[in-house]
Amino acid sequence: MIFITGDTHADFARFRNPLPFPKGYRTSLEDVVIICGDFGGVWEDTQHQAAQLDRLSKLPYTVLFVDGNHENYDLLEAYAVTDWNGGHVRAIRNNVLQLMRGQRFTIDGKSFFTMGGAACHDIQNGVLDPADDSFMIQFRELRYQGKFFRIRNHSWWDRELPTEEELEEGWRTLELASFQVDYVISHCAPTELQNQIMAKLHNDTYQANRLTDFLQRVYDNCSFSHWFCGHYHVPYDLTPKFHVLYEPLMVLPE
Ligand SMILES: [Fe+2]
Repeated sequence: MIFITGDTHADFARFRNPLPFPKGYRTSLEDVVIICGDFGGVWEDTQHQAAQLDRLSKLPYTVLFVDGNHENYDLLEAYAVTDWNGGHVRAIRNNVLQLMRGQRFTIDGKSFFTMGGAACHDIQNGVLDPADDSFMIQFRELRYQGKFFRIRNHSWWDRELPTEEELEEGWRTLELASFQVDYVISHCAPTELQNQIMAKLHNDTYQANRLTDFLQRVYDNCSFSHWFCGHYHVPYDLTPKFHVLYEPLMVLPE
């Protein structure tokens, strides 16, 4: 079975209860849960986080995630890249895998195109660089003023957005699949759909960028049954085929 959910941000409470498998169903690592970005389980190099990942490794199914904007890319990139079900993954644990950007995977006979990443929206007051001489002065001032900021390579990474090469690889992957997949999994939404989400939320902090524009090209050119994203922290079916996910965990629709 395949389940899907939105951002976890290292809060894995939703995995504490058994997943709603049918009565008598025997689970295996062939059963998967897909997290649409902001996994957060590779955020800090601490015993607490290692214990969290070890607990996930004992689940009787596989946990898959695309990356979001709130991941520690230095820690994430320390894991080796391997092949799994037709695409590249990073194996965080035996059954905890990052589905890398621009890949196509086959899971239970269905094809999935994955493109993680997103631009942080909670940096309205900037990104501080610890290498700057005035870092501590700026840090104290912004914190004292309660401003929204992040710190380069500590709580913000420029790799949150895919590179042009990663986007090109994604496009080639779709070309090879004749622009037909069963499911698309991303963290943020295509530009026009993001604008619709913003209108619903009365929020204009999410801006278009090269990733949302790429996803819009995918949306316009690719045939798919369902597209799932996270990022906006609301569960919302924008169309019968385009779903914004957050905390609820659902069975993947046909
Ligand atoms: Fe998030």
